Order: sequence, then C-alpha cells, then structure tokens
Amino acid sequence: MAHTPAGFSKPKERDHAQGSQVRRVRRDRRVAGRRGGTPGARGRAGSGAAGGVGSLAVQLAHRTGATVIGLAGESNHAWLKSHDAIPVAYGEGIADRIRAAAPSGVDAFIDTFGDGYVELALALGVATDRIDTIADVAAAEKHGVKTDGGVAAEPGAEVLAELAGLIADGQLEVPIANVYRLAQVREAYAELERRHTHGKIVLRP
Ligand SMILES: NC(=O)c1ccc[n+]([C@@H]2O[C@H](COP(=O)([O-])OP(=O)(O)OC[C@H]3O[C@@H](n4cnc5c(N)ncnc54)[C@H](OP(=O)(O)O)[C@@H]3O)[C@@H](O)[C@H]2O)c1
Repeated sequence: MAHTPAGFSKPKERDHAQGSQVRRVRRDRRVAGRRGGTPGARGRAGSGAAGGVGSLAVQLAHRTGATVIGLAGESNHAWLKSHDAIPVAYGEGIADRIRAAAPSGVDAFIDTFGDGYVELALALGVATDRIDTIADVAAAEKHGVKTDGGVAAEPGAEVLAELAGLIADGQLEVPIANVYRLAQVREAYAELERRHTHGKIVLRP
C-alpha cells in the first residue's frame, strides 16, 4: 500500500514496517468488516486524489479496507495504483467511468476539489451524510452534506501522533510536490493555484 520514499528507512526497518503494515491492514479490514458488512464491497471515491489533502485521504481510506477510487489526471494514475487505489480520469464521462470502476456502487465521497463534485456524488447515489467536501461550502449548504476537515475536524494530539507514527514507520507517504524558500512564497502560491500539485508544497525559512 504505502510507497516508502527512497532513503526513508533502512531495509531491515522497512521489512519490519512492511510486516507490521500487513498485520495492521488485516486488523483494519477486520474492524471495517465489523463496522459495515463486507469490507471493500463498494467503492469510496475522492476528487483531487493526488493533491495535498487527497493523497493522504486515499491512503487512510484504504487502511480501513475500503475500495478506493481516486479521481486524478493521467500523470498521477501510476501513483494511485501504487497505493492500491483505482485511478479514474476526471472530465467528461466521469460518472460512467466511476460506475464502471465500482459496479456495486459508491457509498462515500470525499471532495477536495469543488466545482461540481458534490452534485456528482449525489448523482452516483451517495447519501448526503456520506459526502464530505472541504472545497465547496456553497454546495454543502445547498445539499446538506458534510464539511468536516481542517482545524474544525479537531484531530487532537492523539490522532496527530498516530499519523506521525505511520509516517515514521513508512506506512503513510506524504508526497512533496516542491520545496520553496520563504522569499519564493509568491511562486509557491502560483504553483498551488494551478491546482495540479501532487502532494504538499513546503516553504523553507
Ligand atoms: N494542502 C493542504 O494542506 C490544505 C490544508 C487545508 C485545506 N486545504 C484546502 O483543501 C483543498 C484541496 O487542496 P490540495 O492542496 O489537496 O490541492 P488542490 O490544489 O485543490 O488539488 C490538487 C489536485 O487536484 C487535482 N485536480 C485538478 N483538476 C481536477 C479536476 N477537475 N477534478 C478533480 N481533481 C482535479 C490535481 O490532479 P492532477 O494533477 O492529476 O490534475 C491535483 O492532484 C483546497 O480547497 C485547499 O484550499 C488544503
């Protein structure tokens, strides 16, 4: 599932991490099974799946045993596949491509991009309380879907520590799209505004 960045951990540590990763994924799947019937039977879709937020959401959703469908451009499909997500290209015909990727249906949708994805999720038959957008407040107000995310989600120290542990173990990859010096902050924002970053942009003091 998780791609370990080169030089992130020594081979022995990596073997250990992969072993515990397999055990944890099995455990997560058992938990998912207890929570909601057959794990992975229906798809969970997400827009902006290779972006700063989506790239983490894809990996965390997969850890619960879900079948993850990641909406992204072709250049990010290999990365999504390497994290066991099913890549689907956005653009015209997207609804049919998602239905083909998830013949049993889609039971949850995370929108990190906006621009009509809440309506797409509704058209796919996803229940309003299973749709979360962090990018389209107007659609959330109109359709009554969730806007959980960011500081409002109140992750707390325990969850942040768990995420840091997963990263340190090489079980959660944080892709770095680019690193800028603080003096280059305009360029950093210009790249962000193009909305094709794969992962996070880092500003260095
Ligand atoms: N990044 C953070 O740490 C952070 C924190 C809090 C809130 N937010 C908010 O969360 C939202 C997401 O931010 P983000 O940093 O993840 O990235 P973003 O810039 O919103 O999205 C980047 C991703 O969107 C994909 N994308 C481009 N056009 C698309 C389309 N038409 N349909 C679906 N996907 C498309 C791109 O994939 P391709 O390159 O493959 O086209 C790229 O991987 C933003 O509204 C942001 O303000 C971000």
